[in-house]
Amino acid sequence: MFINPKENLQQNSNLILQTTIPRPIAWIVTQDENSLINIAPYSLFTPLSFNPPTIIISFRAKEDGSIKDTLRNIQQNRKCTICMVQRDDVDIMYQTSQELPSNQSEAKEFNIETHTIVEKYPPIINSSPIAYFCEFFQEIILEEKGTIPLILNIKRVFIDDKLIKNRESLSIDFNSVGHIMGNRYR
Ligand SMILES: Cc1cc2nc3c(=O)[nH]c(=O)nc-3n(C[C@H](O)[C@H](O)[C@H](O)COP(=O)(O)O)c2cc1C
Repeated sequence: MFINPKENLQQNSNLILQTTIPRPIAWIVTQDENSLINIAPYSLFTPLSFNPPTIIISFRAKEDGSIKDTLRNIQQNRKCTICMVQRDDVDIMYQTSQELPSNQSEAKEFNIETHTIVEKYPPIINSSPIAYFCEFFQEIILEEKGTIPLILNIKRVFIDDKLIKNRESLSIDFNSVGHIMGNRYR
């Protein structure tokens, strides 16, 4: 069987999702112009380079064709905080993928506690032991309408001391959750 990705978009994306596994999940915290906290998971997310330290995340359009709140907030404020998901948080992380109206905060709606640890960046999710504080670097223009990848620069990283096994090599003990497809993880 062959697939022509342009003619079989859904089949092709299902195949990619089930073969490029597991992908890490960026649990992204952003803020709008009123400092309202938005939280959502993104797994079209991968490291792009170590020097400069960059990552890339792809934002698909909302059901109604408009851009996602996370993307809009990053375009406006140039900043986001990416929390890594630990096993116990998978259910609550999944809940935050619901499309809420832009003026509703997932932090409030799902009782997710957050606190600020780096000034001028969105807060981290309390239960997340690793967070990347990122700044907008570049937006990629794709041929396909509706998907917008962003390159972000990692400016600071937080690691809970409890995870650190060796400070010098920064060897850590962390069971990262990877996304397969839908609500399936490794
Ligand atoms: C594990 C997981 C990974 C996801 N990855 C992506 C992704 O990479 N890109 C995307 O556009 N949506 C992704 N979604 C869907 C978004 O989380 C969802 O559309 C969410 O409502 C976006 O919220 P926002 O508008 O507040 O940014 C993912 C959902 C889940 C559960």
